[in-house]
Amino acid sequence: MIRACALLCLVVFQVAIAIEIDVDDVESIKKAASIAAYDMVSYYKGNESGQTPGKLPEPPYYWWESGAMWGALINYWHYTGDTTYNDITMQGLQFQVGIDKDFNPQNESAEMGNDDQAFWAMAALSAAETKFPSPPNPGDPSWLSLAQAVFNEQIGRWDTTTCGGGLRWQVYQINGYDLKNSISNGCLFNIASRLARYTNDDHYAQWAVKVWEWMEEIGLIDQNYNIDHNQWSYNAATVLMGASTMYNYTNGDPVWRTRTQGLIDAIALAFFPDGIMKDICEQYDKCNTDEHSFKAYLSRWMGQSTQMAPFIYDKTIALLKSSANAAAAQCTGGSRGMTCGLKWFLNGTWDGSDGVGQQMAALEVFQSTMVRYIGVPLTNSTGGTSISNPNAGHNSSAVPPAQRITPPTKGDKAGAWMLTAFIAIMAAWACWFMCISAWESGLTGAATAGAFREKIATVMDVKGKGRVVKTGAPRNKWIGVDHVGSPIREEKRGSRYRQRDHFA
Ligand SMILES: *[C@@H]1O[C@H](CO)[C@@H](O)[C@H](O)[C@H]1NC(C)=O
Ligand SMILES: *[C@@H]1O[C@H](CO)[C@@H](O)[C@H](O)[C@H]1NC(C)=O
Ligand SMILES: *[C@@H]1O[C@H](CO)[C@@H](O)[C@H](O)[C@H]1NC(C)=O
Ligand SMILES: *[C@@H]1O[C@H](CO)[C@@H](O)[C@H](O)[C@H]1NC(C)=O
Ligand SMILES: *[C@@H]1O[C@H](CO)[C@@H](O)[C@H](O)[C@H]1NC(C)=O
Ligand SMILES: *[C@@H]1O[C@H](CO)[C@@H](O)[C@H](O)[C@H]1NC(C)=O
Repeated sequence: MIRACALLCLVVFQVAIAIEIDVDDVESIKKAASIAAYDMVSYYKGNESGQTPGKLPEPPYYWWESGAMWGALINYWHYTGDTTYNDITMQGLQFQVGIDKDFNPQNESAEMGNDDQAFWAMAALSAAETKFPSPPNPGDPSWLSLAQAVFNEQIGRWDTTTCGGGLRWQVYQINGYDLKNSISNGCLFNIASRLARYTNDDHYAQWAVKVWEWMEEIGLIDQNYNIDHNQWSYNAATVLMGASTMYNYTNGDPVWRTRTQGLIDAIALAFFPDGIMKDICEQYDKCNTDEHSFKAYLSRWMGQSTQMAPFIYDKTIALLKSSANAAAAQCTGGSRGMTCGLKWFLNGTWDGSDGVGQQMAALEVFQSTMVRYIGVPLTNSTGGTSISNPNAGHNSSAVPPAQRITPPTKGDKAGAWMLTAFIAIMAAWACWFMCISAWESGLTGAATAGAFREKIATVMDVKGKGRVVKTGAPRNKWIGVDHVGSPIREEKRGSRYRQRDHFA
């Protein structure tokens, strides 16, 4: 009888609890954020003995997502004033700086993407902009210098040998090196614009302009301000943050105003059916572990870009509020009845999924709704105190294009030349495609992009088999749809690694 009652209570609770939020009440928003943050951090074990500080369990969480989580927690502290997670944030970020103090620790070299490094750098940049406590040890690198280090190294990797410029996806010659993608370049754009604003050093701004212009020329930003053929939310978000920051840095340059407006309009169209934020992988259950977190960055940077470009505030905040309400309503999972899933559009029904990404997305969308009540990002002339080191970073980790880091194994060597030749041909073809895609238009170009991706996936599969890399499984962030609006065409290796992603 008692058990039946307990069970009943649990069931009633689960249905009834959700996360309550009143998006017009700061205290209510803070409370909702603290619930989401608590559940997010519960996945982190890095501060327990025997674990590696800074890292979420991998699998399923790749190293980059840990950096993204620290960024979310710095924002959480900034938005709410709650210092609960500051110690683990400090420890985690500083533990992972690596010997060159550039967020390129040796343990992670087998999967180091420019975007991965950038997500850690953007967390450090947020720390500088919000005056997060400085690292306690004099030998520790300042938050600002960490972002400068990553910037310096990434501009050293700017590669004009193909496609007239651009940053490759991967730092080293591993799977994904043959791709120049939106997220890597978008993150560099984001970092450059924010460094320009923080330091008032125009060198950074010139790079921001250069990255934007290259992305536009090559077609990663199209004439309607869609980012990439696939429109993932985090690509659009990181570019929006950069453009709005450039608008602010230039004191309202009409060119950046037009771009910022164009981007937010495109974002509203692409990711907010019925006013509720939704990424392209959700409808067909195709989101992998990485992608579960993407809405966190869209929320984060939509919120912060309203500080840089107040003229987009009304439009942006309305979308964030309706999304926050929908997100809170479906946080009914788990034993506490407050675990969040990903499908906010399900009218208050939890989709049965849980994880760091889901929690982070909910956390960031909640807190973004109170953006007008928090301080704007600081600069070194408005109170920012993080110490500048314009020469930070190790030039040798810019890695010249021909350098390999993983020596071939015996198995690799057999047929290695054939593979090399094959990959070289494919890469040349892929790049030829990318370079000409800027002049193609409409569905033809986009549909070709789908085919292109499939081919590249095949190449990578072949390449992946013989290599001894730490993870054994390359990521597939760039796998998606043919073009916006069409059903997702999943590629073979996508599902394989997606399953692996979910096993833990
Ligand atoms: C790790 O950090 C969390 C969150 O701050 C805290 O609750 C937990 O007690 C810490 N664990 C250890 C072993 O310090
Ligand atoms: C690198 O990996 C080793 C072995 O797991 C671990 O002891 C060390 O703390 C790691 N370092 C970083 C920076 O993650
Ligand atoms: C801010 O940083 C820039 C570039 O490093 C430097 O020239 C300037 O003097 C700094 N301003 C302040 C107030 O520290
Ligand atoms: C730049 O940002 C500040 C802080 O939010 C804001 O007060 C100012 O109006 C912005 N500049 C422009 C041109 O919008
Ligand atoms: C959610 O509710 C709205 C309005 O009642 C309805 O139009 C929509 O189809 C519902 N969506 C789902 C996924 O149930
Ligand atoms: C690169 O770094 C090395 C050692 O850190 C230094 O000796 C060299 O001058 C640097 N090269 C450039 C071009 O900065």
